[in-house]
Formats: sequence, structure tokens, C-alpha cells
Amino acid sequence: MNEKPFDNRPIGVFDSGVGGLTVLDHIVQLLPGESTVYLGDTARVPYGTRSADTVTRYSLECAQALVARAGVKVLVVACNTASAVALPLLASTFSVPVIGVIEAGARAALEASRGGAIAILATTGTTRSGAYLSELRRLGAECEVIGRACPLLVPLVEEGWVDGVVPLLTLDRYISDLVGRADVIVLGCTHYPRMRSLLRQLLPAAVAVVDGGVATAAQLQAVLSEQGLLAQPGRVPNHRIWVTDAVEAMVRMAPDFLRIDMSEVNIEHVEIATHG
Ligand code: DGL
Repeated sequence: MNEKPFDNRPIGVFDSGVGGLTVLDHIVQLLPGESTVYLGDTARVPYGTRSADTVTRYSLECAQALVARAGVKVLVVACNTASAVALPLLASTFSVPVIGVIEAGARAALEASRGGAIAILATTGTTRSGAYLSELRRLGAECEVIGRACPLLVPLVEEGWVDGVVPLLTLDRYISDLVGRADVIVLGCTHYPRMRSLLRQLLPAAVAVVDGGVATAAQLQAVLSEQGLLAQPGRVPNHRIWVTDAVEAMVRMAPDFLRIDMSEVNIEHVEIATHG
């Protein structure tokens, strides 16, 4: 009888900062026996306003730290901006599987679509890259695809302003012309799921709001299973969060993002090798 192989190495997840914890949360909920190491590049956030070259360099450095220092078995690029510009290079650089958030998000959007426009709310960098549009077309979408950069939303979420009149008016300014035109809205940025209930107040019930993090966790589960990389069932997992800046902001904000016992999460500062 063939024994099913197990792999107890951690899952590596990285993002420009705290927002990728929305993706980590879905991973931990779906795969409760898996250990994780999350790297938030808080010293260099935001990525969404930077050039594709800079984001690619930062992404390589984050991935290298997770592979070399944490010995991860898979890399999840939780950051939409990094996924949009750096995924092919990351996949060809590292021998472990590399999973971004764009493919899963685009697939989920297409499944929810009823023929109206699909609108992608994202950072300036993700919007400029056209990555969601390319992925949707690759998957066969023929509908209108609207990219909408919403640069003020990340700082609002970072400040914890996820309800009340200021974020509501800001969101409305970004999306009011989409009402009646789009039947799917994609939360194409790590931070935006935190504004989901506010967004729902502005949208008719028939409009689907898609969070790529859910589909990314499902894709990760499928890859681990297909490649014999799942951890041994019943194992008690270990969760580490690394930040490249001081830990205080992460210590303060992480509990708002994660539905796990924070006393079991080790948060520490790391220096990662940088190249200019
Ligand atoms: N993590 C980024 C993303 O999902 C948002 C924050 C940033 O601009 O770095 O695109």
C-alpha cells in the first residue's frame, strides 16, 4: 500500500504590509493544520504606487527571504500589485510552487458574472498592469472589464477607517458610475475586503462582490493536495509573522484581520537582503 506523503514545512505568504493578512486568514481557516510564515514588507509599503520594476525587485527579495530563511514549501503572493507584475519571474526563479491572487480572483469573478461588466477595484499599479483584464480574457471572458484605481482606500484601511461617512463617501466617489453597469465587483487589493460591508451599502443586492483571497486559498489547497505537500493531519500548526519595519503596527492591526488566537502567533522584525 502506498503511504500518502506529507510535508510539514510552512506555507510562505508575503505582502507589502498588513493587508495580505486578509488572504492569510482564508488560508488558515481552510487549512487549519498548516503552519505559515507571513512576511509583511512594512518598511516599504505601499507597493501599489510604485513602478513595476521596483515592485518586482521587492517581491523577489521577500520571496527569497521566505524560501531561504523559513524553508517554505509553497509561496503565496498575497499582494495583488506584486501578483500583477512579478508572478512569472517569481515562478521561474524559485523551485517551490508560486501562487498569486489574480488568477483565482479572475476565475471567481467570471463564475459570478451574468454578462454585465466586471469591475476591478485595485491599486494604481495593479490597474495600470492590466493583469486582471489579461487573465479574464485568457479565461474566455467576453464582457466589458473596467479597471478602477482606488488609491485612497489603502490608507483609510491602514487607519482602521472601515466604516463611517468618510470611507463611505470616498468609496462612493470611486464606484458610483459602476452601479447599473457592473454586475461583479472584484476586491482586487488586499485591503479592500475590510471595506466589504461599506461597499455593500452602496451596491444593489444583485451585484456580486468577489474577494480573490477565498479562491486563492482554495487554489492553494488544490496545489498542496496534487503535489503531495499537505501537512500531516492533526498536526498543531505554528504561525509566524515577520515584518521589515517595527512590530508595533502589526501587533495592533493583526487581530482585526485574523480569526485565530493571537497568543499563538509569533510577530517579529526581520531584516531582508535588499539590492539597491
Ligand atoms: N497589498 C497591496 C495590493 O494588494 C495594497 C497595498 C500596497 O499598495 O502596497 O495591491
